[in-house]
Amino acid sequence: MPRESSSKNLYDLIWGVRRDTPEWSVGRFEKLHELIGTYNLRGKKILDVCCGMGSKAYAALELGAKVWAHDGSVEGPNLLKQHVESQNAVPENLKGWNRWRYRLSKPDAKNLTLAPGIDITGISNHFGDEKFDVVYMGWALMHVEDPARAATDLQKLTVPGGLIAVSYFNQNSTSQIIRDIREYTLGLPMDEAAEITAKIGKRWGFDKSASLRDLLEDTEGNRTLAALKRLAEEKGYTPEEIEKDLHFEDMQTPYLYNLDDDVVAGYFEESSKIIFRRPGLIRARKL
Ligand SMILES: C[S@@+](CC[C@H](N)C(=O)[O-])C[C@H]1O[C@@H](n2cnc3c(N)ncnc32)[C@H](O)[C@@H]1O
Repeated sequence: MPRESSSKNLYDLIWGVRRDTPEWSVGRFEKLHELIGTYNLRGKKILDVCCGMGSKAYAALELGAKVWAHDGSVEGPNLLKQHVESQNAVPENLKGWNRWRYRLSKPDAKNLTLAPGIDITGISNHFGDEKFDVVYMGWALMHVEDPARAATDLQKLTVPGGLIAVSYFNQNSTSQIIRDIREYTLGLPMDEAAEITAKIGKRWGFDKSASLRDLLEDTEGNRTLAALKRLAEEKGYTPEEIEKDLHFEDMQTPYLYNLDDDVVAGYFEESSKIIFRRPGLIRARKL
């Protein structure tokens, strides 16, 4: 049976707390560059698909682009808007030999259009005939119900000659222990996973106050702790090994595909020319 595709509730829960931490913006230029391979964005129309809290969208605004920021969550794009209005990103310079070419601007809310709370399955309807010079989707393709359809939609939303970039998990970055944690905990209450990951310091904005080993001492009435204890016993992991790879998002996101690079490349071959790829990342030019 298909699961609820939107991760609205999950990500609203992840980001709906402790909004004041400055970490959200750290490394934003480097992350943007790693994904799309350029800083040359002045005057370009950019669509950040599944933008999350939008650190890359913020960097694109600083680089002079007009940015549309989409996400299934409501909190993520809203936080981006608040950050743009208060201009509270940690100051950062562009790295690289040619940074002199790129003048940074103050991000301006006039150049930002938000599309919050929209499942990716409705993305092309939402944007209608609008087309973008750059469309990117960072670290999210593995979380959507139909990655092939998402890739097709990204290409439909790009102007001919425009740049499309996606990054995602694949078999090299989704370890066996992450898959095992997920198998044992998927479908268990979200608030339990939220509380456990907050206590061990693996949830956005929370400091560590306990170790998983301590928490596993008393699993009474907590299905998630009981499942993690069973996982340790049945698969022979130590609590420390599980704690290291225990992430709220991996446990609760409705989809966590182990995407194959050749399969993802195949999504782009018909309408675009692939210009760069490495495990977990593809850039293409729309034909
Ligand atoms: C791992 S986060 C990546 C956030 C951001 N792109 C980044 O690189 O930091 C995955 C994002 O995908 C969004 N997402 C997952 N499934 C979605 C769906 N079906 N429709 C829309 N957004 C979705 C989540 O809300 C979340 O913001």
